[in-house]
Amino acid sequence: MLKVAKNSDINFAKFDEKNPYFHIINALKGAGRLAGMKILDIGCGREPRYQILCRELARLGCVVTGVDTECKNEKGNPHFIRSSVDDFKTKERFDAVISSYFFGYVTSDWARDGLGKKPKDYETSLLKKLHGMLTAGGLSVHYMNEPWSLSRSDLEKTGFRIIKFPNPVDIFKVEDGLCVLKKWD
Ligand SMILES: C[S@@+](CC[C@H](N)C(=O)[O-])C[C@H]1O[C@@H](n2cnc3c(N)ncnc32)[C@H](O)[C@@H]1O
Repeated sequence: MLKVAKNSDINFAKFDEKNPYFHIINALKGAGRLAGMKILDIGCGREPRYQILCRELARLGCVVTGVDTECKNEKGNPHFIRSSVDDFKTKERFDAVISSYFFGYVTSDWARDGLGKKPKDYETSLLKKLHGMLTAGGLSVHYMNEPWSLSRSDLEKTGFRIIKFPNPVDIFKVEDGLCVLKKWD
């Protein structure tokens, strides 16, 4: 598995192709101007040293909400909400929903006591739920350093158009772990 830079070593002033955060930010830039973009980061990290993406996007002018089961509630930009994505409800609509190192690490009610098994359709249902939180034409961008378990047709069933499909077998380049989906207008 490819090693990526430690969070503390990241210099956002210089593009680093080995760092997934740059690829996520680039995918968002492809959709238009970053400034003012409303972004939801799921599994955003429990503390500042993991909340890199949320904080960098806010610095770039985006309006960011981060949700994580282990973060502290914090108002401002980014706005952090301590919640499981499964319980998270909002009437807000976002221009993009993103995640880094979340799919593959996500746990939920089914994992309690280490006995549960992830239901087969857990990820597709989650993507469908996120689809409902996006504005028309909104993006869903996810980086995984674990092989992605969903097929193209699984993804299409979630209502998105596939812009970039992650390499399902193994991840040799950081770019291979990136999944970019667009909500049909
Ligand atoms: C490997 S960390 C990634 C953190 C951050 N995104 C980063 O880039 O470093 C995975 C995060 O997902 C969170 N998480 C796992 N399951 C979750 C769930 N069901 N709802 C919300 N957050 C969850 C964990 O608390 C953890 O902070």
